[in-house]
Amino acid sequence: MQIVSSIPEIRVAVRALRARNGAASGRSVGFVPTMGALHEGHRSLLQAARSRCEIVVASIFVNPTQFGPNEDFNRYPRTLEQDCRMLEAEGVDLVFTPTAEIMYPPGVSTFVEVAGVSDRLDGASRPGHFRGVATVVAKLFHIVQPDCAFFGQKDAAQVAVLRQMVRDLNLPVEIAICPIVREPDGLALSSRNGYLSVEERRQALSLSRALFAAEALAKQGEHRAETLLLAMRACLQQEPALRVDYVAVVDPDTLLPLEDAANGALLAVAAHVGGTRLIDNILLPPTR
Ligand code: PAF
Repeated sequence: MQIVSSIPEIRVAVRALRARNGAASGRSVGFVPTMGALHEGHRSLLQAARSRCEIVVASIFVNPTQFGPNEDFNRYPRTLEQDCRMLEAEGVDLVFTPTAEIMYPPGVSTFVEVAGVSDRLDGASRPGHFRGVATVVAKLFHIVQPDCAFFGQKDAAQVAVLRQMVRDLNLPVEIAICPIVREPDGLALSSRNGYLSVEERRQALSLSRALFAAEALAKQGEHRAETLLLAMRACLQQEPALRVDYVAVVDPDTLLPLEDAANGALLAVAAHVGGTRLIDNILLPPTR
């Protein structure tokens, strides 16, 4: 596994891997962009990339432009050695670990704004977050030039923003989405779970519990968003220490609220548990 930090190096390395064995049309490149602090959710993305593509490239970059001024950029876990062990074990060919100066040299003034969808759900609570995500992902796509890029369903709003960006900018990249990986008790895996105390981790379980309660209602035939929202809120209220950010039943592509989930819907929640903001979601399939 090769680890490189500069843009010229990664470009040369990807080109060489693509051309290896004299493949006439070039071998396919799967790309897993990450901010490090890798967990089993990331492992599932790496495995999906490995099974679908001939070459797997991962990036580790804690992107400053997607953090707000009072967010956790400084304390975000940085575990490069451990991350590299997982990347190596999953057969990653190439790892890109740029610095902030490489990605955002002085004078940089071009950003990617995906209007509308970027202001909904997490975008409403974290102004500028998706501008930072869209910009860094667009830059990484241009640098790595993958055929397919792999993201987790856990960040459902990010998925909607990036799909829209790829459509709008006609980027030649397929976006593949992998299911949420959960702990046995339901907690969705997140690099931020490490911030939780034992008591906060217990409280955090009410996010997935709320989603499962609404999903169970939907499976019984309930598709009115109002009823699903009530069920989720009732669950979350049982944990008064939680500060709920949003509870939503929305269209998974536009993130606009739905009144009826019968054609499929994204159930999404976000809440602050102590000083940690957590998100979770479930996709309801269409019932008609
Ligand atoms: O999902 C993440 O880890 C980040 O938002 C991403 C896509 C790597 C961009 O920094």
